[in-house]
Amino acid sequence: MAGELYKKPIMFAIVSAVVILIGTAVTMFIPMLTAQMHPKLENLNPYTALQLAGRDIYQREGCNNCHTQTVRPLRTEVMRYGEYSKAGEFAYDRPFLWGSKRTGPDLARIGKKYPDQWHYRHFDDPRKFFPQSNMPTYGWLKDYKLDPQDVQGHMDALGFPYSSDDISQLAGKNDLDALVAYVQVIGTAVAKKRAAPAKAMTEPVDLVNPLAGDAAAINAGEIIYEENCLECHGPELKGDIGPSLVDNVYLYQPGDLADDDYFEMIYNGTEEGQIEEGRTMKGGMPSLGDVLSKEEIWSVIAYIRSLQTGEEGK
Ligand code: HEC
Ligand code: HEC
Repeated sequence: MAGELYKKPIMFAIVSAVVILIGTAVTMFIPMLTAQMHPKLENLNPYTALQLAGRDIYQREGCNNCHTQTVRPLRTEVMRYGEYSKAGEFAYDRPFLWGSKRTGPDLARIGKKYPDQWHYRHFDDPRKFFPQSNMPTYGWLKDYKLDPQDVQGHMDALGFPYSSDDISQLAGKNDLDALVAYVQVIGTAVAKKRAAPAKAMTEPVDLVNPLAGDAAAINAGEIIYEENCLECHGPELKGDIGPSLVDNVYLYQPGDLADDDYFEMIYNGTEEGQIEEGRTMKGGMPSLGDVLSKEEIWSVIAYIRSLQTGEEGK
């Protein structure tokens, strides 16, 4: 019988096509319908009404033409952006906004990297922070109020849960509020990869600033401050988006901390809810360990200290 089939080319083609199709159906479509093919991270939540409205604006403005939202599992990418993307992060993304071109940096781990205030100012004028930036300004988005009915319709279409309260709260919000709310939730279902703690990378174990009081280091520190810290801590270090660095309050409690705590703060950044010396962080201080060398961090600390004691840096 089998031998007969080989002599009938048309019949043979049909039979083999059917066999291949059955194989395809079994190995492709059946797994596609199983739960494992649609992983969802445990702490991933559907978008809130405000976040979803922001996501619509992100698409409308074509942010994905310049920004990707996916970190590939390559060493250089993980070092630059953070933990690589997981399939389970995107369960509520319809459509996916992975993008394919990085005119600007990847945004897969942008959520909670900076405080809200930073984003409002950056959208208002990216060149204030990065003079070379070619990102368009989006401050005008704040002149457009959200339409709660429209957002509700989209929530219904995607089957995301909401209460009537959530919708009525949209009333006073504008497009920029929504965009910031969306940017702040991107990638937050994945735990941030923490940079190595300062104590593990510096000898000896009990840290004192080797550059404390060094006039050259203080001068260098001033420039490092202006380039990396001023945007958030203000021109006189008295605080702006971030807290004052010259008062006697550290992480919202009276009493300053030691140089090694400053080092760790600058090296690692902060994360909401994390505790340092019994003080709770609100998050929003970016990790600068990849941007600044050890000497540069100690220099900027020497500069901050020089202003705390009233000593002149010049
Ligand atoms: C023409 C390309 C372009 C477009 C369009 C664009 N960006 Fe950017 N974006 C950039 C560049 C370049 C940078 C890096 C310099 C800077 O921060 O301004 C950047 C930086 C950013 C950052 C800071 C990233 C970080 O880790 O510091 C955020 C957030 C951001 N963009 C969000 C957006 C959003 C949201 C939109 C859409 C409303 C958008 N961008 C549209 C080019 C673009
Ligand atoms: C994007 C904004 C931003 C930038 C840039 C930034 N910081 Fe911060 N910084 C913050 C925020 C926000 C906090 C509060 C952190 C928290 O509550 O978790 C903070 C906290 C701190 C603290 C603790 C101070 C206190 O009194 O609580 C120090 C020290 C500090 N930053 C130093 C620096 C230095 C030095 C630089 C530059 C090398 C820098 N920061 C750059 C936003 C920023």
